[in-house]
Amino acid sequence: MANIQSLRGMNDILGNDSELFTYFIENASKIAKNYGFTYIETPILEETALFKRSVGESSDIVNKEMYQFIDKGENDVCLRPEGTAGVVRSFVQNKFDRAGGTYRWYYYGPMFRYERPQKGRLREFHQFGCEVFGIDSVYEDANVIMMLKDILDFFKIGFKLQLNSLGCPKCMPVYRDTLVKYLTNIKEELCEDCNRRIETNPIRVLDCKNEKCQQLLYNAPKITYNLCEDCNRDFEKLKEILDFNGVEYEINTNLVRGLDYYSKTAFEFTSNEIGAQSAIAGGGRYDRLVEFLGGRSTPGIGFAIGIERLLELVKMNQEQKDVIYLGALCDDALNILTKIATTKRKEYKTFIEYTPRGFGKHFSIAEKNGANIVALIGENEIKDSTIFIKNLTTKEEKTIKIEDF
Ligand code: HAM
Repeated sequence: MANIQSLRGMNDILGNDSELFTYFIENASKIAKNYGFTYIETPILEETALFKRSVGESSDIVNKEMYQFIDKGENDVCLRPEGTAGVVRSFVQNKFDRAGGTYRWYYYGPMFRYERPQKGRLREFHQFGCEVFGIDSVYEDANVIMMLKDILDFFKIGFKLQLNSLGCPKCMPVYRDTLVKYLTNIKEELCEDCNRRIETNPIRVLDCKNEKCQQLLYNAPKITYNLCEDCNRDFEKLKEILDFNGVEYEINTNLVRGLDYYSKTAFEFTSNEIGAQSAIAGGGRYDRLVEFLGGRSTPGIGFAIGIERLLELVKMNQEQKDVIYLGALCDDALNILTKIATTKRKEYKTFIEYTPRGFGKHFSIAEKNGANIVALIGENEIKDSTIFIKNLTTKEEKTIKIEDF
């Protein structure tokens, strides 16, 4: 009988990865708390209608990628493809929209999208996200962007920040009409996907990945030249605050994001070191989403980091720290080895093997445990207060005084 495997695009997180994962959550949470955020956890399973109304029926996520099914009680449900919708649902359900005030929440956990798996693209992946409610000041947009930057800086990750403004209900429809006129003229030359999007969500044509389409779109009207006075003022102010704080960015008028709930500020942090799936994090303002989900109009802004993509970069930067394996060549060595282990564990991951064995056996157990430094003590070493060291990577061997180890 064949062994059962995990589903395609869904991975176990263990070993070095799980250590990095918890290290990331701990430190990103600490930064979020310093910015005034508190933790929120929402269910992984929600009513399908929640995502249709928020992420949008014309988005790829809702259209093609949802893990949707009818449960035993005949409810149409799905595994969450992203975190914002659930958090906003909770905000409205718990009547925070009626109470007024400011709320800053962060979360992390698994998200599910039925996409074609490839490097950096999974069907079950994890996000660390945050959402802010009740502030329409563009200073909060900058605050959220700087918090995300702080998290990436903490993990020493190089990135490019791309910024755009998607306008508001006043200027976006006018821009959309102008864009549709332009697109209709070049319709025949655009790809099939773009043609479908002209009907359903013309703004998304702008981020088509097809090279020929991108060339044709070069002269397309740009949203940033079509913003209303308010949106333009806010966008200029946001750039000014980021400049003042030394945050570098690039304006990308084609950055439209794959979720329909955004207005005004939209941003993405990308890296060119992780292949085609270059977005490490993305977010933006969603001032109408609370209303879409039945709440009292409340401005909102947030972002989510793709944890797997971020950890890929952390791993690339990770300096290999020594992992030590201590082994006995005779019974009497155990006392000294225990003492050495206690000292070494203050800084290094250290294994100790209690059963006395020969050199070769120790080397192979050490390798299996992921250790690169093997330190062994036998009768001769006890007599001379020395320890035998082998570096499994460089193959270098030496016997040194215990106090020098
Ligand atoms: P998103 O851009 O769809 O935004 O996802 C955020 C991040 O999740 C992406 O930048 C990427 O790193 C990661 N990600 C997305 N799909 C996958 C996948 N299939 N495999 C691995 N990683 C993936 C959102 O989800 C919004 N809810 C963000 C937000 C929060 N906007 C406002 N508040």
